[in-house]
Amino acid sequence: MKTVTIDVEKCNKDGICVMACPANVIQMGAPDDVPAPIQDFETYCLKCGHCTAVCPTGAFSLNWLSPDQCPPIQREPTLSEQQSEQLLRRRRSIRNYKDKPVEREKLAKLLEIACYAPSARNNQPWHWTVVVEPAQTRRFAGMVIDWMRTVIEQNPEQAELRGFPRVVSAWDAGEERICRGAPHIIVVHGDKNYGFGAEDGALALGYLELYAPAIGLGSCWGGYFYSAVNACPPLFEALSLPTDHRAFGAVMVGYAKFRYQRLPLRNNPRVNWK
Ligand SMILES: Cc1cc2nc3c(=O)[nH]c(=O)nc-3n(C[C@H](O)[C@H](O)[C@H](O)COP(=O)(O)O)c2cc1C
Repeated sequence: MKTVTIDVEKCNKDGICVMACPANVIQMGAPDDVPAPIQDFETYCLKCGHCTAVCPTGAFSLNWLSPDQCPPIQREPTLSEQQSEQLLRRRRSIRNYKDKPVEREKLAKLLEIACYAPSARNNQPWHWTVVVEPAQTRRFAGMVIDWMRTVIEQNPEQAELRGFPRVVSAWDAGEERICRGAPHIIVVHGDKNYGFGAEDGALALGYLELYAPAIGLGSCWGGYFYSAVNACPPLFEALSLPTDHRAFGAVMVGYAKFRYQRLPLRNNPRVNWK
């Protein structure tokens, strides 16, 4: 089966597909020729779909992606500059949640959108473990606390640096600072030897966090949680992560209890203009 099909009636030979291809696996032949894949196309193609998505005439099909399968980009309504700034500045790490589980479809939608994040070489290395039962989220938070107690005992200096004693004291006083009482924790994980796991994982969770408020949800990175997943075998096993995986990150998710009224400030960019 051919990997690339060019509709010669539609192709206007503008070469945009060639220029947009990140892997340089499409070439123009003679001036009157339509584009064609290079010999090693299948070896080097990233399967990013840019060629099909960028073609102004819908002439470019891959054997796994036709123009008809790609939803058209809606030019309107578009986010204004001000709305875009609000979208990005309004996202908050949410640490107070309603006692209400999130519907499965909404959790699934979060993951669907997260998977549109960029990833190195379009590798899309993400696997997801979603803790659906609030009681389980609480149980896993307790396992993180158990692990913290061990670190406090065995390596008090490191524990202090990472703020563990305060988190454990809070737990003992009845305050849960691991998942902050969120009903769900979502772990993104993948091949433990994959070099860009941390970056790709963080980007996917960034997408998830930016999208969550649009469907009424709040979220917050679970830094303690995912560190514990990688450092504490009982937690890793309790989550049933594959043995050749590691956690790239985690977020707690739920319905936010409070609404923010103002945008807090952040540091100005530290820039060296050269
Ligand atoms: C890698 C990473 C780990 C984090 N871990 C935690 C965490 O374990 N618990 C928590 O409450 N917040 C955690 N956060 C959230 C940060 O504290 C938060 O992003 C920061 O205070 C800024 O607030 P904002 O996200 O509302 O702008 C983490 C954030 C990142 C990026």
